[in-house]
Amino acid sequence: MRKLIIAANWKMNKGPQDTAAFINEFNGLLNGETDKVDIVIAPAFISLPKAQELLASSAVGLSSQNVSDQDSGAYTGEVSVSMLKEVGVEYVILGHSERRTLYGDTDAFINSKLKKTLEAGLIPIFCIGETLEQRESGQLETVLETQIKGGLVGIDAADLTDLVVAYEPVWAIGTGVTATSQQAQDTHVIVRRILADQVGQELADKVRIQYGGSVKPGNANELFSQPDIDGALVGGASLEAQSFCELAQIGAAL
Ligand code: PGA
Repeated sequence: MRKLIIAANWKMNKGPQDTAAFINEFNGLLNGETDKVDIVIAPAFISLPKAQELLASSAVGLSSQNVSDQDSGAYTGEVSVSMLKEVGVEYVILGHSERRTLYGDTDAFINSKLKKTLEAGLIPIFCIGETLEQRESGQLETVLETQIKGGLVGIDAADLTDLVVAYEPVWAIGTGVTATSQQAQDTHVIVRRILADQVGQELADKVRIQYGGSVKPGNANELFSQPDIDGALVGGASLEAQSFCELAQIGAAL
């Protein structure tokens, strides 16, 4: 049985002050949900130390939204894995479609960041997903396969035991359009099959595959009830403590 993992991807929202307000409220709302589901918050880099301070006595995990593929040195504007570890980060979101389309993160670049993340003992939340055009022109499987194989190339299966994959159809991100739970389930089966090809069935059965794209309290129960959906990567609905907590409650109640 895979434990659900529900992660808040705040994107470029919430500086340290808003982060503190959210976490203080969220801590007060939680009521044992973290015993049943893994809850993770991914603030902007600048807000990580504040989040670490306020989550110190909580089981909520901390994630960054990106990382450098280099260890240190002349890389202006970059943040390394060791810097992230210093502020208590445990997870790193990689390959988000916004990074792929707006900032040119290629499969090869994501692969090198993934390797750094794993070497540092951090857990990647590895995002993949197709555009509507790709889905409608029958390229879904090819696109997912290219992203998964390209992202994981050269990495030993043994190093991927904690890997989290986030399947996020690009057409459902921030649009209010969610894949139906059946569409999501069917695609998660495909993702798991591609993973099995790459890392073996045993590990593929253990990897948690989150769904992402307009997840909110109103659709979470149906999504989380699907056998291959192991949680969610949540943007918009994670910005309010109340609605993010509702997602945790829905997951914990299953
Ligand atoms: P959304 O974003 O929940 O606002 O659609 C999800 C994501 O981009 O991770």
